[in-house]
Amino acid sequence: MPTETTIDKISRFVDQDVTLTGWLYNKRESKKLKFLEIRDGMGIIQAVVGINDVDEDTWEKAGSLTQESSLRISGKVAKHPKKDEYELHVTSGGVEIVQIASEYPITPKDHGTGFLFQHRHLWLRSKRPWALMRIRSEVIHAIRTFFYEDGYITFDAPIFTPNACEGTSDLFEVPYFDDIAYLSQSGQLYGEVGAMSHRKIVVFGPSFRAEKSKTRRHLTEFWHIEPEIAWFSLDDNMELMERMTMFIIEWVLQKCRPELEIVGRNIEFLENVKLPFIRMHYDDAVIKLNELKPKRIAELEGELKTTEDEARQAEIKREISDLGPEFEWGGDFGAPDETLLTMPYDRPIFVHHFPRDIKAFYMQPDPDDERTTLSVDMLAPEGYGEIIGGGQRAEDHDFLVSQIKKHELPMETFEWYLDLRKYGTNPHGGFGLGVERTVAWLAGVHSIRECIPFPRTIGSMYP
Ligand code: 4AD
Ligand code: MG
Repeated sequence: MPTETTIDKISRFVDQDVTLTGWLYNKRESKKLKFLEIRDGMGIIQAVVGINDVDEDTWEKAGSLTQESSLRISGKVAKHPKKDEYELHVTSGGVEIVQIASEYPITPKDHGTGFLFQHRHLWLRSKRPWALMRIRSEVIHAIRTFFYEDGYITFDAPIFTPNACEGTSDLFEVPYFDDIAYLSQSGQLYGEVGAMSHRKIVVFGPSFRAEKSKTRRHLTEFWHIEPEIAWFSLDDNMELMERMTMFIIEWVLQKCRPELEIVGRNIEFLENVKLPFIRMHYDDAVIKLNELKPKRIAELEGELKTTEDEARQAEIKREISDLGPEFEWGGDFGAPDETLLTMPYDRPIFVHHFPRDIKAFYMQPDPDDERTTLSVDMLAPEGYGEIIGGGQRAEDHDFLVSQIKKHELPMETFEWYLDLRKYGTNPHGGFGLGVERTVAWLAGVHSIRECIPFPRTIGSMYP
């Protein structure tokens, strides 16, 4: 009996007989040879069936296989003379069909993304989503390892919450017996509780936002990593963010090279990311943006005159209108602003000290300029924009009370949170990293919808 194995371990079995269990991914055939691409979840291998090498029954069975048919297949493992590639030379009796699959909707030809997302439950078997889910898994594992090795404890925050962390405009309300609850937008407020108990903790869970806009950066359900640390400054925070980001990049480069190649990532860009990341005060970011804007708009207008492609023309017009006229101090950056800001750099940038009026109620004001806060966003380069948001939390009880009032939030649901400022308040902070946005940047994928198994957006909740 041949040894049963999986494709990831195939290099151990050169010149030996093995059995694989899996599915037919693709098939090519000529008069005398059939090339079966077999996937087993761990990888893909080409199985070769030769008319002169197998009995008639095996030849016929190989011919009857449809895409995604499940099977056991046996043969001898052969290695490519030069490359690290392997083939399975199928032997007589080597094809055992488990099920002939019905006509598979996803064929090797091009499908539109709408169609593919409708068939997400099947599409996930294809090479590109397969690679992306493995990269995602490694990113999560890297982050968990980073915090574990740094002495953090995992501290889970509730999903049903009585209060809004990130403003009331995009809350999901759910009936909660005779009351209503909100799905958590962020575990931060509860993470602060953990930090007062354990000094440094990390919350990891899903966050929910009723995002009404359809963009390549927004989901209604995303996975959120939120470390929170007591006795922690804004500088400490940026240092932690960049150290963690480098750890993730190095991890992914080490573990996911084949997957990065499958998705066509420019790997060299990631290899060249270096510490320290760029640090930019919000005031300077505004100046920089207003320097870059006219240049970019001129560039786009130049392209508009020369391009004949109508889709591209529409895209350019949209970008010009999104960029708008001058950026005024006090505003929040839109996606095109973030893209423009990061364009000149080969690494992520920190924008810190955002104005108070565009930030959440809990932000600590800058003691040197009360109009701004000790907040920071980390923007990924290559047009990806914000992947981390964080900062220092307001320490003073009475200030926090005034902020809750100013933001018109219900005081009674924050009593417990205010207690943290009554009993041993201290400078503390942390951040939130969006897993899907991080994966999108690391894998070089345009839309974050591809970076989660089942994306949830305003337009789609199926499958
Ligand atoms: O900047 P945000 O809103 O910050 C917070 O929620 C803080 N309470 C985090 C903290 O300090 N503990 O969100 C943090 C990150 C963003 O940078 C982004 O990566 C991700 O969460 N994010 C989203 N990802 C996908 N879809 C959305 N709708 C997202 N909203 C935020
Ligand atoms: Mg943010």
